[in-house]
Amino acid sequence: MTSTEHRAASVPTRGTVTKAVIPAAGLGTRFLPATKATPKEMLPVVDKPAIQYVVEEATRAGLRDVLMVTGRNKAALEDHFDRHWELEKALEAKGDQLRLARVRKSSDLGNIHYVRQGEPLGLGHAVLCAADHVGNHPFAVLLGDDLIDNRDHLLEAMIEVREAMGGSVIALMEVPPESVQLYGCAAVEPGWQENGDGSVLRVTGLVEKPDPADAPSNLAVIGRYILDPSIFEILAKTPPGRGNEIQLTDALQQCASSTEPGGGVHGVIFRGRRYDTGDRLDYLKAVVRLAVDHRELGSDFSSWLTGFVAEKDASALDSATS
Ligand code: G1P
Repeated sequence: MTSTEHRAASVPTRGTVTKAVIPAAGLGTRFLPATKATPKEMLPVVDKPAIQYVVEEATRAGLRDVLMVTGRNKAALEDHFDRHWELEKALEAKGDQLRLARVRKSSDLGNIHYVRQGEPLGLGHAVLCAADHVGNHPFAVLLGDDLIDNRDHLLEAMIEVREAMGGSVIALMEVPPESVQLYGCAAVEPGWQENGDGSVLRVTGLVEKPDPADAPSNLAVIGRYILDPSIFEILAKTPPGRGNEIQLTDALQQCASSTEPGGGVHGVIFRGRRYDTGDRLDYLKAVVRLAVDHRELGSDFSSWLTGFVAEKDASALDSATS
């Protein structure tokens, strides 16, 4: 089926996207011991916890109803997005308007709700935990390990595709073939690079973390999804897959081949700035990249960084020649 036929088969229904779901129940074991008593979503990226970037992205796209799927030891998340009266009073008394605004911002972002996952059964299961809150409407899922630069408007573009095409929409990024094993990987309609601007395409299949030799493409699924609510029924029947976890990718694989209302998957190719905070090295890179662009700190930090790198290069040269 072509994209045009697919559009006719799945006329967008069930209203527009207003809700965002953010899975945040993971144990953060890659960051131990930092995450022993602090949720990994609360690790600072420059001057804000990582999760705040994600909530800001959702609300910027008009999704002010945010559901976080949490677990044990995640109370700090609820505190962060709640008012902090004592702190606000103290800052007010000092006349520190700047910091007061920073503190208030996180509690003014939207209507944030929480549900617990209970058991760590995988990303697909975390999304299924959102079923009662989401109801029968399309919704966004944002994974906290991926930060999208606020100058890039990926989520807005994905919402537009959902409104035009119906079904579900995933975000794809071209990665080196050997890296595809770290991601969900998409099979797409042939010839997409030659058709139009190649930024929206029909997804024909999906596989979670394939061996590079078996991967259908080098298009990796990144952590932004617009899902049709029919995904819940599919997730409820999806058996554990890779890592013995219920995989969202496996449920989407079924949607990709479905001609039922709400079926079909489109991909939006993202060529913007994505910062991965999923492991220690990527996290450090994300902090540096965002610090260099920071409105207040960027210029001082960049000059320091340039000097630091030059110093390191000089001492490496010294030790090589001595
Ligand atoms: C999850 C998804 C995977 C996706 C990735 C994006 O994997 O299962 O399909 O490509 O997020 O970051 P995780 O990184 O949680 O293992």
